[in-house]
Amino acid sequence: MKPSHVLWTIAAGIAGLGAAWAHGGATGIVKERMDAMTEISRNVKLVGQMLKGNAAYDGVEIARAGQAIATHAGDAMIKLFPEGSLKAPSEASPSIWNEWTQFSGYADSLQTSAQSLKGLAEQGADQKAVAAAFGKMAGTCKACHEAFRIKK
Ligand code: HEC
Repeated sequence: MKPSHVLWTIAAGIAGLGAAWAHGGATGIVKERMDAMTEISRNVKLVGQMLKGNAAYDGVEIARAGQAIATHAGDAMIKLFPEGSLKAPSEASPSIWNEWTQFSGYADSLQTSAQSLKGLAEQGADQKAVAAAFGKMAGTCKACHEAFRIKK
């Protein structure tokens, strides 16, 4: 990917995350996963701001954010979606449980891509490589949301 494309992807991703979805009144597992997603999103925004040049680049902080995202991804994320947990105001799609392999695959690839973001930042890789890894990671958020998150 050309750097300009990477930056575009990042900008688009962040714009998408910025939209405020009302989740007032959520309880139980739905609240838990909304909180986890919000925590993930906070870390994504932090890194995005650095890569866009709106905040000072800090590889240590990016590695920490990558680790935080990875911790909430994979099995930890999958566990927050027990079958049929669709209580309002959840935006989860019922198709999650019909297409579980695909759904859990996205959660796993988020973990893998967050770990590689962390690894690159830790090794002091150049910003272009870090931005490419970030763009790839943000792509898994988008793909999973497009397939399995519905705006109600
Ligand atoms: C495996 C699929 C999957 C992946 C990967 C994923 N999400 Fe989500 N996300 C969902 C689903 C499903 C919901 C809706 C949950 C609900 O409302 O019950 C959601 C909800 C959210 C919300 C709204 C939380 C709220 O308070 O209502 C945010 C913000 C969010 N995701 C950010 C992210 C970011 C950022 C990433 C990537 C770094 C990401 N997600 C990766 C499936 C995913």
